[in-house]
Amino acid sequence: MRHAVEPSEPMDILSGKKLLLGVCGSIAAYKVAQLARDLTLAGARVDVVLTAAAERFVGAATFQALTGRPVLRDMWELPEDGVIGHVSLGAQADAVIVAPATANTIARIAVGLADDLLTTTILAATAPVLIAPAMNPLMYANPATRANIAALRARGYTVLEPEEGRMAEEVSGKGRLPEPATLEGEIRALLGRHSGPLRGQRVVVTAGGTREPIDPVRFVGNRSSGQMGYALAARARDLGASVTLISGPTALPTPAAVNVVQVETALQMRDAVQAACEHADMLIMNAAVADFRPAAAAESKIKKRGDGELILELLPNPDIVAGFAQRRDLFKVGFAAETDELLAHARDKLERKGLDLIVANDAVASIGRPDIALYLVDADGITPLPRQPKAAAAAALLDAIVTRYTRWRTSLPGAS
Ligand code: C5P
Repeated sequence: MRHAVEPSEPMDILSGKKLLLGVCGSIAAYKVAQLARDLTLAGARVDVVLTAAAERFVGAATFQALTGRPVLRDMWELPEDGVIGHVSLGAQADAVIVAPATANTIARIAVGLADDLLTTTILAATAPVLIAPAMNPLMYANPATRANIAALRARGYTVLEPEEGRMAEEVSGKGRLPEPATLEGEIRALLGRHSGPLRGQRVVVTAGGTREPIDPVRFVGNRSSGQMGYALAARARDLGASVTLISGPTALPTPAAVNVVQVETALQMRDAVQAACEHADMLIMNAAVADFRPAAAAESKIKKRGDGELILELLPNPDIVAGFAQRRDLFKVGFAAETDELLAHARDKLERKGLDLIVANDAVASIGRPDIALYLVDADGITPLPRQPKAAAAAALLDAIVTRYTRWRTSLPGAS
């Protein structure tokens, strides 16, 4: 049975979102200019509110040019439409972000002050609030700041951990604002947790290839880049899932707001997947697990002996995803990259590995190409996704997985 091509126009979670970005007086404000630009380019409407001290670091003109929106500073300045800004701003936004958040503004929010536009807006906000502290490490470690942050967290605010490292001043410690890409990932996760279709769901994604050691310097491996798995993990985060990404070695940056577990061998991956799946709802097994591993890794580097041949004895690795065949409460997605008889092999693996869904692609037609055509194969039949660039294909694929997962969940015993 073949289905029509699934419509797939993956929407960026930031597209059309109204974000209120409060910027405080810290040198880290320069990073937030980039963040404002990135969020705007992703399709969000970004309204920047500057505290008086923020303007000493980055001027309103910078944010205005980057967001294409008027920057808000003064409580008493009437907007063009005549509506008093502070209450409507916080009530209309999809999310409120304070970055960088200084010790002073954190304290003002914690006690509920409304003595400038930013704190007034936050006091009247109904949207989820994300706070990214940045300050001198001693100020961050001070019990007063610790107590203020604990109070905000207890109230349901998301307060990020600052990063450790060299500050602008001649000190090092914990107090640095995370980089713009990390902040963007945290904002995506916040929006997803609030209203995404996977909110409350725990999703495990595996990515990359495994490396099976021959000796301390050599391994048996494969060409998997991990890109598809990383993109799937980021999309699942954007849709609200709590995501664990179990990755073989790759050259990719780790996605923000995702719990990343780095492994090397198939056996390490199996152990990590088993631990992560204990309380998970979905397993997306995208990793290219080596089918075989050397029977024993040599303890020291194997030396060439004249022209003599080297015979490696290989043992089969356990099939990780097949080990979950009895877990009826876990939605399991596998992958099949084939060179021939694509759909027949995919159907066979679906059954043999006890999967709920398998994603098939023609290995020859996708390796080294920027685009990919995917087929979803499950008990209902085959659904092709249109050939598209790999990043868009990953997002479209995750959306198609979510549709099936949602249907599957309602069919579980005890589902309401
Ligand atoms: O059998 P094959 O390797 O083609 O199956 C691919 C699917 O099975 C992928 O989802 C892959 O991650 C998974 N797999 C596994 N454990 C293995 C080999 C493959 O979970 N040892």
